[in-house]
Amino acid sequence: ATVYLNGEFMDADQARISPLDRGFLFADGVYEVIPAFNGVLFRLDEHLGRLARSLAELRIADPHDGPGWRRLCEGMVARNGGGHQSLYLQITRGAAPRREHAFPNPPVPPTVFLHSSPLTVPAADQVARTEGVAAITLDDLRWARCDIKSISLLPNLLLRQRAVETGAQEAILLRDGFVTEGAASNVFVVRDGRVCTPPLSHCILGGITRDLIIELCREKSLPVIEAEISEPALHDADEIWISSSTKDVVPVTTLNGRPVGDGRPGDTWKTLARHYIEFKR
Ligand code: PDD
Repeated sequence: ATVYLNGEFMDADQARISPLDRGFLFADGVYEVIPAFNGVLFRLDEHLGRLARSLAELRIADPHDGPGWRRLCEGMVARNGGGHQSLYLQITRGAAPRREHAFPNPPVPPTVFLHSSPLTVPAADQVARTEGVAAITLDDLRWARCDIKSISLLPNLLLRQRAVETGAQEAILLRDGFVTEGAASNVFVVRDGRVCTPPLSHCILGGITRDLIIELCREKSLPVIEAEISEPALHDADEIWISSSTKDVVPVTTLNGRPVGDGRPGDTWKTLARHYIEFKR
């Protein structure tokens, strides 16, 4: 596959990064995952907006402007043959002359890396066929700035691994007894036809898919609120959904080994998923 590294497109095995790169040493960087459907990047401006914000939080100078990023991302998707792809974009603070926690002074050029992999058609495209996924609840042991899309994902992957080892696909995280998000997704619950998702805070990533779901609910008059979800409320939910750029919106039909609602994808999810597909067209 073709990748992009620091100004050039190249074959993946030709790409070389210094072991002194601060991404490698410190996970000092940020990333985005942007889906492309039929060769067209989905919600690209929203993803680029979040990228700019993450870079600003880390005080890494943005190496490109909006049109520059757009050209680069579209170039990657085109070089990898269009279709459905998951575009991965990572920027680190760069390779400093030595390992030192404080930022290199003078600054070094950031490392920019793009990579793309095939994307299987997300669940919302298969409303009638999808069976939903299993999730477990785990304590959210991450840091206090989960709103930054940082490449430092060790807690997320340990949590996801725990879920996978119990036969589930996702971990739904609880901090002080309230739902934050999934290990790599945002969480929604439905009770009596009302959709609810935790409000934006430093404890969750502001998902691009989350925003779109809220937007679509409002547009289609499905009642939706952003409010805290307690652990009992999660267990009492008629429906639970998880959302991310690579999965759209997926119903969780088993939580901690017990059925959610009647154990099948719910009616509110089906309605929303249809609106989602329509929007994507
Ligand atoms: N993860 N919360 C976390 C912790 C995430 O890692 C993600 C996405 C989301 C959903 O955000 P969005 O809708 O913008 O994709 C929420 C990506 C897909 C990943 O790390 O692979």
